[in-house]
Amino acid sequence: MAKDDLQCPPHGKGWGRTAVTFTPYFSFYIETSKTLKNSNMNSKLKTLCLFLVISISIAAQPALKIGFSVGDFSSDRWSQEPKFFEDEAKALGVEVLFEYAYGDADKQLEQVRKLIHSGIKVLLVFPTSTDNWTPVVEEAHKAGIQVIAYERMLKNAPVDYFFSFQNEGVGRQQAQYAVDHRPKGNYILLGGPTSDLNSLLFMKGQKDVLQPYIDKGDINIVLAKHLNTWNAIDAFTEVQSYLNSTTQIAAILAANDDLAGGAIMALDMASTEYNIIITGQDATVGGCQSIIDGKQSMTVYKSIYSLAKEAARTAVKLAKEEPIIAMDVVNNGVKDIPAVLLKTVVVDKSNIKETVIADGFIKAEQLNWPEK
Ligand code: BGC
Repeated sequence: MAKDDLQCPPHGKGWGRTAVTFTPYFSFYIETSKTLKNSNMNSKLKTLCLFLVISISIAAQPALKIGFSVGDFSSDRWSQEPKFFEDEAKALGVEVLFEYAYGDADKQLEQVRKLIHSGIKVLLVFPTSTDNWTPVVEEAHKAGIQVIAYERMLKNAPVDYFFSFQNEGVGRQQAQYAVDHRPKGNYILLGGPTSDLNSLLFMKGQKDVLQPYIDKGDINIVLAKHLNTWNAIDAFTEVQSYLNSTTQIAAILAANDDLAGGAIMALDMASTEYNIIITGQDATVGGCQSIIDGKQSMTVYKSIYSLAKEAARTAVKLAKEEPIIAMDVVNNGVKDIPAVLLKTVVVDKSNIKETVIADGFIKAEQLNWPEK
């Protein structure tokens, strides 16, 4: 073999042996190269060898993996979001390993520990409970894994990033809508469980807007309660028992569409005519249908598609050790966490077609529209 031929593989003969085992093309060219004399052919051969070296080293690298722990399915959105995330990550060449805890907080911690030992570079957590995360996040860090809190913050844990919406803003949008339409009267605030930090933020936003009206004596909060779960049945029971006891209600600030649905069920069963402002969140099919039917007044539309996609892009960048930019900061009790907080949109009967439908979030055929 000519000296030139030997130089093709840059690191000598041992290297050449490895290459032969990886690719039949390479072995073919080693054989052929013995007979090559002309320098033009030799330079083609060098180019080909270089190409093979690159291909082989790419093929030899393990695929990048991201872990995603999904805590629960407490709203329609959770049946879609993991898929949006996976599609984006896959398109960027990264594999996603999912674990689903179905509302069991201990199981979620166990599953996350399993993910930490499965070769992932980045871990996303959508927590069913925001508590008890510190040791697990520290364990992830020791394994060189960065942790992103997704939609709900992990309380007091040193997470690296937070991807969510402007959660206090959601509460403010709900309350502002209510006072714009019913500036006086008795208000009920139906919040989600306190195990979800967002529940507290939604209610804080609502109370911030209501406070001046309360101070003036125009609005009276007759009930403000965090329910045990995000299930409609809890809202149903709460509103039903309230209706048994009392007074006229001007507005029910339900934190999401499921809770609004429970409240509506209780009002329907009480069978009295009612003219109450009822808020929601998530723009679920059920929520949007209630808006069209005139039972729910508004919902807050959050583009979960954008959130999942943004989070996937960032997670992939982190996995590839590329720099990322986070515009916001949220303090979770232990430190300021760089955050991306997307804006939300108020939707009622007047703009449902221009927002959730136009965006393709819900197809017009999924809803029953009044006949003209
Ligand atoms: C989310 C809401 C959702 C609720 C129940 C909250 O943390 O912010 O969008 O409706 O959980 O899943």
